[in-house]
Amino acid sequence: MRILTVGGGGREHAAVEALHRSGAEIYSIMKNANPGIIRRAKAYRLVDEREIDDICEFAIEHDIGYAFIGPEAPLEIGLVDALENIGVKCAAPTKNAARIETSKAFMRQLVSKHGIEGNLAYAHFTNAEDTEKYLEMLDREIVVKPVGLTGGKGVKIQGEHLADLEETMDYVREVLCGAGGSEGVIIEEKAVGEEFTQMIFVDGKRIAPMPLVQDHKRAYEGDVGPNTGGMGSYSDANHLLPFISEEVRGDALNILKNIVDAMSEEGCPYRGPMYGQFMLTKTGPKIIEINARFGDPEAMNVLPILESDFLTILKDMATGKLKEDIKFKNLATVCKYVVPNGYGIEPDAGHEICIDEDGIRNSGAEVFYANVDEIDGKLFTRTSRSIGIVGIGETIEDAERNCETALQYVRGDAICIRHDIGKREIIQKKIDRIKNLLS
Ligand code: AMP
Ligand code: GLY
Repeated sequence: MRILTVGGGGREHAAVEALHRSGAEIYSIMKNANPGIIRRAKAYRLVDEREIDDICEFAIEHDIGYAFIGPEAPLEIGLVDALENIGVKCAAPTKNAARIETSKAFMRQLVSKHGIEGNLAYAHFTNAEDTEKYLEMLDREIVVKPVGLTGGKGVKIQGEHLADLEETMDYVREVLCGAGGSEGVIIEEKAVGEEFTQMIFVDGKRIAPMPLVQDHKRAYEGDVGPNTGGMGSYSDANHLLPFISEEVRGDALNILKNIVDAMSEEGCPYRGPMYGQFMLTKTGPKIIEINARFGDPEAMNVLPILESDFLTILKDMATGKLKEDIKFKNLATVCKYVVPNGYGIEPDAGHEICIDEDGIRNSGAEVFYANVDEIDGKLFTRTSRSIGIVGIGETIEDAERNCETALQYVRGDAICIRHDIGKREIIQKKIDRIKNLLS
């Protein structure tokens, strides 16, 4: 079976490895020369993932049957609609359905219109004066988000990144003039608690859950600093998290199922992996964001422990025949991203990075190449995350140790890693915080 993969990051490399295990013939589109994907691909083209005409031409040339699309940018401009027009079935949402991620206003309105649990109070503005009047009336802390896509880096939080009304308004003005802000700004209630990711497979109607994962969006150890695309993540052997019960997970899945039903009712049925980012608060799980794809790094946690056949799942999602008993191994995982120095603010890219892949594999961990280029047999960093290392074990502690052992086989002068991810101390803090919050 010939399958097109779109995207050149760690998430896409993890998907390509799962497809390779399924015996798929892989044809890839990516903008950077990801050596992990290139190694598995029968053919590939280095082109921006938003070049719809080029991608369709490549799909026709190689007689592609199905497509997997990793990143959100091509979904936003209708790559799925274009591929389906030429007969390629996609395990990904159409432009209309991808609005669940590409428009934060659409997502909040949908959840509110259909009376779905877990919404946060929000308001949508397209000019600075109205935003300021609204903010002056409020007596609680808020979060500022551009309506459109910003790669996870556009969110600023009062009390963390924004000290007072003046700083908040400076940022609102910046957003309204910048990337992702052309459709305005969302002012959202600040949710207090612990975050978790629940991803599901969706075929338009049915859903099947993946293990829970916790990502770490902040750039620096101790969960401080600017927001990033995600610095690393872990999952537990029982597919819950140390501070998330089966009941809370059930609530989150219910919210996602209701969103899938609502989208179908609205005439934009959703197909593909869906990503629910939740905050467990005093009053239950709240929706932070919904993404129209796998999370990155979260895909690197769940795909290596997927027992069911990935190609079958993709085909079933694309054709509305998803089976609900998708199986994952009962193992814990810890993923740490190696990123260029300055990632999150001003990345210092273009430096060589050296990897001993055999050393990593022999230690039982997995390596996923991300935003790197292979040039004349050498690897160079770009401006985004470089390499994901995933440790696997019976417990989170085992998986974390495994990840750190493997990280010894990665060397570079200008790289940075959040070593605290998956360590006992930081997890215990989260457990204690939730205990206090819920007591
Ligand atoms: P997003 O890009 O929407 O996932 O936001 C990035 C990060 O900002 C999230 O992972 C949260 O840590 C934080 N965040 C976003 N929205 C809120 C909110 N309403 N309350 C508290 N934190 C938030
Ligand atoms: N891990 C965050 C994201 O994929 O958006």
